Amino acid sequence: MRVAVLTVSDSGSRGERPRDLSGEAVQECLAGLDARVVDYALVPDEVELIAARLREWADGNDVDLVLTTGGTGLSPRDVTPEATARVVEKLVPGLTEVMRAESVKKTPRGMLSRAIAGIRGRCLIVNLPGNPRAVRECLGAILPALPHAIEVLRGEVRECAAGGGG
Ligand code: MTE
Repeated sequence: MRVAVLTVSDSGSRGERPRDLSGEAVQECLAGLDARVVDYALVPDEVELIAARLREWADGNDVDLVLTTGGTGLSPRDVTPEATARVVEKLVPGLTEVMRAESVKKTPRGMLSRAIAGIRGRCLIVNLPGNPRAVRECLGAILPALPHAIEVLRGEVRECAAGGGG
């Protein structure tokens, strides 16, 4: 699984954060999977910049999964879901339904993430909240389904019948 990580943060893009902890949390979560981070970018909370980066990765055919972190909340600058909605062709609501369902078990604020997930071409794009703990909780909740999702997207599996454990 070829993964690209897009951290969306005004302060991060201004160099005001010494480390990108949410990006690092994504890498940690992927450690146990057959996944490698092939690209990474940090952009400010600007719809056009986010959408352009998502298009570039999805259309380049070198990335199977894009994970964004941050910009999914209610503040006026939070526009990651809007940027994602501009570029995806189909929504995959099950992923974000599970993320929110698991998140509210930890904190009622889990319902405040407006994250979406969707497909552009053969690339799956999933928004995650920006807090590193939230990244771990949300990504941890959907990880078990991601390898199969990518296989189906790539056309390596035609039918999802029988079994379905892995
Ligand atoms: N989900 C989990 N699992 N854990 C959290 O701590 N924080 C919430 C929510 N989702 C949180 C969570 C909060 S406080 C906000 S404001 C939203 O995610 C949006 O975060 P973002 O704007 O950084 O994307």
